[in-house]
Amino acid sequence: MAFARSTHAGDPARLATPLLAVALGADAKFPRALAALDRSTGGALSRALKERDFKGGRDETLLVLAKGSGPKRVLLVGMGTGDDAAAITRAASVAGRKANGMGVERFAFWGGDLDARGVENAAIGASLGGWEYTELKSTSANGGRAKPLTAAIICVSDTKAAAKAIADGQAIAEGQRLARRLAIMPGNLCTPEYIAETAKEIAKRHKLKCTVMGRKEMEKLGMGSFLAVAQGTPQDPKFIVLEYKGAEPAEAPVALVGKGLCFDSGGISIKPADRMEWMKFDMSGAAGVLGAMEAIGRMKPEINVVALIGSTTNMPSGTAMNPGDVVRASNGKTIEIINTDAEGRLVLADVLAYAARYKPQAVIDAATLTGAVVIALGNIAVGVLGNDQETINEVLAAGRAGGEPGWQLPLWPEYREQIKSDVADMKNTGSRGAGTITAAHFLAEFAEGYKWVHLDIAGTAYTETDLVAIPRGPTGTPVRTFVEFVRGRAH
Ligand code: BES
Ligand code: MN
Ligand code: ZN
Repeated sequence: MAFARSTHAGDPARLATPLLAVALGADAKFPRALAALDRSTGGALSRALKERDFKGGRDETLLVLAKGSGPKRVLLVGMGTGDDAAAITRAASVAGRKANGMGVERFAFWGGDLDARGVENAAIGASLGGWEYTELKSTSANGGRAKPLTAAIICVSDTKAAAKAIADGQAIAEGQRLARRLAIMPGNLCTPEYIAETAKEIAKRHKLKCTVMGRKEMEKLGMGSFLAVAQGTPQDPKFIVLEYKGAEPAEAPVALVGKGLCFDSGGISIKPADRMEWMKFDMSGAAGVLGAMEAIGRMKPEINVVALIGSTTNMPSGTAMNPGDVVRASNGKTIEIINTDAEGRLVLADVLAYAARYKPQAVIDAATLTGAVVIALGNIAVGVLGNDQETINEVLAAGRAGGEPGWQLPLWPEYREQIKSDVADMKNTGSRGAGTITAAHFLAEFAEGYKWVHLDIAGTAYTETDLVAIPRGPTGTPVRTFVEFVRGRAH
């Protein structure tokens, strides 16, 4: 369900709302601007701060009931010592999650004197906090709650000045909600076909051009690498192209590329059964690309963007690729398949080679590509590699601005040695060490002729533990990194 955001200017004490969330930093003084609100709680709010029942620590919350015609309840939300965009987003998310759990339909958020970025981040956080996936629960996931949360009001000093920030925040949040939903959907529902249909819906909504190719078309294009993965499944693989034109037609586009493995069993090199169900998230890169296109379609930045998604599943079967097989990708390079579980790079090889025909100004791909990136960076930082340092720096900055920090790993030529093959141009896996880097080296063989940055999101696209601001499941990464990069490049 779409989530509505609006603004309120003036004293929040006079806002009739079932819930007002007030974000405060660590050890903050009670804000003077909220004196009337404090009175409506009989002074409980300022007392809670003074008595240190509420210290403003990150994710800390305290609920206080109020009297009168203003807010019925006030939720204090701590931001800790962070005062950046991420802290506001996080506080608004925590508030949104609480509000959703309480069963209020809407809530208001006060975060002090917010600038445009602050308003945007509050809007994003409020919306994402209220996000949940309930479509497959036959009894309402609401339990005893009255109503699901569907709207938030951000308190601002000037409604007019905040209008664009709210609209942009709404666009980005809707993109992230779409990405989260696709990612959490089980593989039997979120199929390559479903991803293609979702792309077509986005195209229709925002008047983009959408082309969907299947096995036949890919055979014509000589995509032997992508098709090697797809040959293990009877489902038709989908190669999806979405084109957004916000600038002159001749202007070089930014290309966003996504790995869309709707399920990765490992294929013949099958994965252990334990936690294999998490491999439904192996299309998170594709979900991130589609989420970004939804946001871009709403924001309409002056720039051209092309989205390229390779979607299939990796299955063991009588027709599946085998270790030792050699296949030829669309750029003519041959690949010896050592491990069929290194399938994401095989799919991306042909998609990245295809991107060259757009003569793009930059290409960013996102993929849940390696378990090794989880070992290196855990669930905190996106693994970032590429062939152009300036573009890498730009992507790192975009990730920071969007609260999805990345960390660069070295793509030194020494690591390329690991994927040398006795019989083909390269192998699809290296030896044991530096798995994220050798995977990126493999991709670099196909990302030729343009500036390219690779995001390994295997550790950051979803969380296996509840993060307070984000429930167990998909995070929405890297939608914001994509959007920040694209709007940074727009005219
Ligand atoms: N989709 C996986 C990567 C992955 C692993 C994502 C764990 C999230 C959590 C990818 O296709 C894969 O299986 N990679 C292999 C590569 C190996 C065979 C060289 C891996 O990382 O184990
Ligand atoms: Mn795999
Ligand atoms: Zn995979």
